[in-house]
Amino acid sequence: MEIKTAEYVISSPTVGMCPKDTKPEYAFIGRSNVGKSSLINMLTGNRKLAKTSATPGKTMLINHFIINKEWYLVDLPGYGFAKRSKKDLQRLEQMINGYILQREQLANVFLLVDVRLEAQKIDLEFIQWLGVSGIPFAIVFTKADKLSTGKVTQQVAAYKQVLSATWEELPPMFVTSAEKKQGKDELLDYVEQINRSLKDG
Ligand code: GTP
Ligand code: MG
Repeated sequence: MEIKTAEYVISSPTVGMCPKDTKPEYAFIGRSNVGKSSLINMLTGNRKLAKTSATPGKTMLINHFIINKEWYLVDLPGYGFAKRSKKDLQRLEQMINGYILQREQLANVFLLVDVRLEAQKIDLEFIQWLGVSGIPFAIVFTKADKLSTGKVTQQVAAYKQVLSATWEELPPMFVTSAEKKQGKDELLDYVEQINRSLKDG
């Protein structure tokens, strides 16, 4: 799929305040600083669309971007950022969990993990929660430009191994680099496939 238009729509503090129309949406979630906002910018070819930052904790609201006037990309705040107050952490957790559980037009969650790290407990817990909650998701490895191709393959294989201990069926996985524009076509084709199945369904 080609992205012809990508526009910022709104930033919402709660799921109840998100756009009211029912176009399908695709949310990006993962630890702070993993590269959610950067990936949205890479996919849309607009480096200024979603706000990114070298310091974790940049995204604080549920951000909707409308793509080709047909579907939404949703940038969520990261989880697991320790340097926040307990109150902020609770508020963000409620925001993220409420959005994921209540948003009926949520077609798929992209769970981002840094390809350089071994499987992190907090991500595995989140994956577990998505699975138990019946939320369709895919895993997106980010920052692939920081490792050699061989090492990336090793890391992905190791991640699959960890997931295989709990899951019979593995989720779709994508290797990406916002820096090198890697994984763009694969991710957008995946979205297109789901959009089509929703229309046909
Ligand atoms: P929060 O909104 O704080 O949760 O962070 P985020 O997940 O949206 O991360 P963001 O996109 O702001 O990126 C965090 C940092 O990682 C920035 O310094 C980015 O430039 C860098 N970064 C993101 N993606 C990549 C990538 O693919 N390659 C490299 N080398 N750096 C990346
Ligand atoms: Mg962000």
